[in-house]
Amino acid sequence: MTYLTVYTDGEQPETLLATEDAAEIAATLKEIDVVLRHWAVVEDLPEDAGQEEILAAYRQEVDRVIAEEGYTFVDVARLHPDDSPDWPERAAAARKKFLNEHTHDDDEVRYFVAGSGIFYLHVNGKVHAVLCEAGDLLSVPENTTHWFDMGTRPDFTAIRFFHDDDGWIGDFTGDPIAERIPDFDTITSTRAARTARRPAEPRRASPACGRS
Ligand SMILES: [Fe+2]
Repeated sequence: MTYLTVYTDGEQPETLLATEDAAEIAATLKEIDVVLRHWAVVEDLPEDAGQEEILAAYRQEVDRVIAEEGYTFVDVARLHPDDSPDWPERAAAARKKFLNEHTHDDDEVRYFVAGSGIFYLHVNGKVHAVLCEAGDLLSVPENTTHWFDMGTRPDFTAIRFFHDDDGWIGDFTGDPIAERIPDFDTITSTRAARTARRPAEPRRASPACGRS
């Protein structure tokens, strides 16, 4: 389930909104021209499914987005913790790549097949931190100032859509704002604490089954 936190972008960021409400998230993102959609997750995909298998599982949805938006290239990016000795180094290097504020001259469109990541969209004096999880498709328009945090233990599989081969190149703004906004690890633990505090859903009474 998507989780949105909105912060002020000053020296001491304040939280303006924190919500899991799908309608509220969609409406808030619509104000900044960011589109969030949800696709049904294909549950029977094997964990080691390759790129072609993943794209085939979502063929209909992927083709619809390509037809609507004119993307010419689609691939699958994935990073999952493993036991190899170089994992910590690879994880840190991957995280660092887009952890500072930047723009692209292409849209940044990601569908989360599995796992999660946070897109931080810095627009109109606010930072919108969108925690995307399996089933979420986020479309960040070209030239939107943003950054992406996959956390200190990256774990995700995502389908990416591009208009051209160079679209993923980042143009970094040099603004250190990402350092003062809560990161992936902080936001996910805050959200877990919120969920734990929430009272359990009232149990629905079983339908009466008395004998007649
Ligand atoms: Fe980016």
